[in-house]
Amino acid sequence: MKLLITGGAGFIGANFILYWMNHHPDDSIVNFDKLTYAGNLENLKTLEGNSRYTFVKGDITDGSCVDRAMDGVDTIVHFAAESHVDRSITEPAPFVTTNIIGTQVLLNAAVKHKVKRFHHVSTDEVFGSLELHSKEKFNEQTRYDPRSPYAASKAGSDHLVHAYFVTYGLPVTITNCSNNFGPYQFPEKFIPLAITNIIEGKKVPVYGDGLYVRDWLYVEDHCRAIELVLQSGKAGETYCVGGLSDDISNIGVIKKITHMMGKDESVIEFVKDRPGHDRRYAIDWSKIRRELGWKPEYDFDSWLEKTIVWYKENKAWWKHVKTGEYQTYYKQQYG
Ligand code: NAD
Ligand code: TYD
Repeated sequence: MKLLITGGAGFIGANFILYWMNHHPDDSIVNFDKLTYAGNLENLKTLEGNSRYTFVKGDITDGSCVDRAMDGVDTIVHFAAESHVDRSITEPAPFVTTNIIGTQVLLNAAVKHKVKRFHHVSTDEVFGSLELHSKEKFNEQTRYDPRSPYAASKAGSDHLVHAYFVTYGLPVTITNCSNNFGPYQFPEKFIPLAITNIIEGKKVPVYGDGLYVRDWLYVEDHCRAIELVLQSGKAGETYCVGGLSDDISNIGVIKKITHMMGKDESVIEFVKDRPGHDRRYAIDWSKIRRELGWKPEYDFDSWLEKTIVWYKENKAWWKHVKTGEYQTYYKQQYG
């Protein structure tokens, strides 16, 4: 099988390519990526020279480039996106361009090339925000209620993907997953930012009261979920994917990290809140468990420990990332 992975130089895409190359030795992969600030080919340097792997530098909004890259492709896994909520608040336009228009360009090409599966990687943020302390969770029936430009652009892309199934019969699947963490995550996102700041002896910025709740999913568990959806998921269906973090607040996450890294809580620095900050996310992943047999492999603490070890052992990777454009962004965001 030949797969086209969009956004494969980013965090989840790179983890997925490494996972797939390991577990599917007969398949080949084309990684199609624009290499924005978030795309980093260092994530995939172990694949250099591998005849089953090809990299194409391209923009998913560029129809002719996408068309060429799709030649002979059976399956598309679409990760490419502008993915950071804070950046979408500062500058929404690239989110609309890449996440909505880019997805539509890919869908058109997928219809033309008669691909056997178009899998769209989306987020739980399309469902909006849950009340703190409620028992409610997002599931496949939850009404869309996006509240940030990022979430709205991902919601738009989800609707387009579903529309191409209904209108053109394109065999699509969608996963809406919760916050991922793990190796190769760009250190502007909360967990890698916290770990790397602590290693560097810096404070960890916590927005508002820090009582915001995310559902934390280890990236390899997410890769296995996508694998199962590609293998046994039903065309036209959506699957919600979440972790085992059990309603932990951002402060709770930082306390775990400081404890695991042998530091005290003086590293926490409360900073101005994010506008429109969603209070709580939680995912009911019973459909994918029931229908495809998926569940997270370990609990949150075990994966968090492993993630801390990875960042400790891969200082060169993140020190390189934490330079240049990232520094400009960091100053603008936190002063
Ligand atoms: P990321 O920002 O780390 O990587 C995105 C990748 O897409 C980068 O390599 C970038 O260069 C590429 N890209 C951006 N614009 C492009 C364009 N126009 N054309 C081609 N390539 C382009 O993102 P991530 O965290 O790996 O997220 C991957 C996907 O998963 C996204 O669709 C995101 O919405 C979704 N998702 C992420 C999370 C999370 O916690 N990270 C949670 C839920 C859903
Ligand atoms: P983030 O990793 O940006 O993911 P998302 O906004 O997609 O959930 O943020 C996770 C949570 O951590 C969110 O509640 C915002 C909070 N946060 C901070 O408190 N400080 C920070 O510096 C960042 C980046 C996030």
